[in-house]
Amino acid sequence: MRVLSGIQPTGRPHWGNYFGAIRQYIDLQDEDESYYFVANLHALTTVRDPKLLSGYTLDAAIDLVALGLDPKRATLFVQSDVPEVSELCWLLLTGTPMGLLERCHAYKDKKAKGLTADAGLFNYPVLMAADILAYDADTVPVGDDQLQHIEVCRDLAGSFNHRFGEVFTMPKAKILDNSAKVPGTDGEKMSKSYNNTLEIFEDPKAQRKRIMRITTDSRPMDQPKEPEGDHLFQLYSLVATSEQRDEMAALYRRGGFGYGDVKKALADAAERFFADARARRLELAADPKAMHAILADGAARARQKASQVLARAKKACGLLL
Ligand code: TRP
Repeated sequence: MRVLSGIQPTGRPHWGNYFGAIRQYIDLQDEDESYYFVANLHALTTVRDPKLLSGYTLDAAIDLVALGLDPKRATLFVQSDVPEVSELCWLLLTGTPMGLLERCHAYKDKKAKGLTADAGLFNYPVLMAADILAYDADTVPVGDDQLQHIEVCRDLAGSFNHRFGEVFTMPKAKILDNSAKVPGTDGEKMSKSYNNTLEIFEDPKAQRKRIMRITTDSRPMDQPKEPEGDHLFQLYSLVATSEQRDEMAALYRRGGFGYGDVKKALADAAERFFADARARRLELAADPKAMHAILADGAARARQKASQVLARAKKACGLLL
């Protein structure tokens, strides 16, 4: 299995990013081959501040390594360090029907809101197809919001192959498991746009304060409560050991405790759960040269693969004389 996924650099990652995606990417790093890149070319469609974009990009790479992505086992790189992908993107664009892209949700939603979209956003799915096809990826772990883009990729690969011969490997989406619910501090789904996140690398003291302010219902102390639907319990379950979780569940069912105790336990468990990653992140951030070397090595490996695929594609459509 050759696994590939792109991660948008969007600033500081939160628990939803970790449990919903990052952790699952990292779990796949031991497949035959795996490629992970920071999708800075895609981010350029929304992040228009150069300092912010370069900072976010480096931070995203640091976050991934701090959280356990091993650059020796996986190929970790920055999207724009592999120019072959942009070239392949053009090859694919020449056969892409406008109507296919007009139906894609990022563009359609923006238009529906009466906003003007640029050609970058319109062609976003084609660049994503180039990302995937350039490495002969066969498995692409993504959130279900990206499923449509994988369909576009398969569509473009299929018609290119049909026209020019078997050039591209047909990829499959592997939809990330979002059964582990990650509620935000208000009980709604954790999301940056709801302003209800718990950041992974926040200073533990500040995080503790944020946890103590999580909204709860006004259940009286003596009443038992079913733990399953409770967002404090759900958050606790993500970072506690299974014994701790079972003990907490029993406490909920017995009653006679306050939410303040649960919050304290949650803050303790969270601090412990992310302690190693936090320490690793500090080390990595203190040594940007080492991180740049990791990314340069990743890019070299990625280019080796992408240049082979690009040559195959160029030859097939008559660009190599
Ligand atoms: N569009 C993806 C997202 O927003 C990121 C991405 C870019 C990607 N290129 C990719 C994901 C290729 C998988 C494969 O999440």
